[in-house]
Amino acid sequence: MDKSEITTICQKAADIIKKGGLVAFPTETVYGLGGNAFNAVAVANIFKVKGRPSFDPLIVHIYEYSQLNLLVEEVPELALKLVKFFWPGPLTIVLPKKSGVPDIVTAGLSSVGIRMPRHPVALELLRWCDTPLAAPSANLFGRVSPTTAEHVREQLGESVDMIIDGGKCNVGIESTVISFTEEHPLLLRPGGTPIEEIEKVIGKVKIPSPTEHISSSPGRQLKHYAPLTPLLIDPLPEEITKYKRKGLLCFTKEPEKVVQEFAAVEILSPRGDLGEAAANLFAALRRLDNANLEVIVAKRVPNFGLGIAINDRLFRASNARL
Ligand code: TXA
Ligand code: MG
Repeated sequence: MDKSEITTICQKAADIIKKGGLVAFPTETVYGLGGNAFNAVAVANIFKVKGRPSFDPLIVHIYEYSQLNLLVEEVPELALKLVKFFWPGPLTIVLPKKSGVPDIVTAGLSSVGIRMPRHPVALELLRWCDTPLAAPSANLFGRVSPTTAEHVREQLGESVDMIIDGGKCNVGIESTVISFTEEHPLLLRPGGTPIEEIEKVIGKVKIPSPTEHISSSPGRQLKHYAPLTPLLIDPLPEEITKYKRKGLLCFTKEPEKVVQEFAAVEILSPRGDLGEAAANLFAALRRLDNANLEVIVAKRVPNFGLGIAINDRLFRASNARL
């Protein structure tokens, strides 16, 4: 899309949003399903279309710093330092909310998650809407997040008013979520901004284990990001002998002897790059899920940088049957 096409499409989409409609749009992480954050009926529709339980809060998207005033009373110094460094980009901050933010957006919590995306189409859309957009990932609840417009069409198709096709998302994994509602910054979700980079800017962040229950973050379900096919992480050879049609999801090239055992193989990054692997993860999971397999065998990726977020998604996908 050239610049004038982007403008035309975003103007049309903004009209839909202003009338209370829903628009799926590209961000650099995954596609979002957006509605006016200050229109409680539109937001209720987002929950309905996704089949999302009402206890799971939505992220509110903005395009410029002045919009923060609509959502929060103040931004703590540390949080401001962090967003000045990483926005626009794959980072969400959670702060105490202003009373005017509808409770349905935050699932009744007294805090709100805010992010300024980097994708030019998302920013242009937000500019034309001139209201913050509540937007979760544009997938059915608990399923794999969409990284192309086609993924959105497959799952949400007719139930949204418009889908903007902005090509493939180049980060491919959701934003990192950091809460500033307690004394120390807390990591609620590893994501597209590596935690090591964040700590370089604001110092130590509290990192809970993936299974730890955090009452202020109801969205951390173990069962999440899941294909319908059962997924096992690094299983022992004897654990998978009973399966005939197996799929393999691996980071880089595996020896031919290993690959031969599988009916379908997805290599996330032949050159061993975690950024490339993150960008390919959800599409690869979907392809395996559509390959009529009995089981998906996933290999853990190196656990640093974006690898932490990839392993987190694999872990949650593996818990789908719990
Ligand atoms: O990259 C992304 O963040 C994408 C794109 C579309 O921006 N959005 C996304 O939204 O992943 P969603 O709804 O799929 O995930 C939002 C998660 C919630 O499940 C929850 O864990 C956390 O963000 N969250 C949002 N608001 C929160 C709040 N007030 N307190 C705690 N956690 C919150
Ligand atoms: Mg999601």
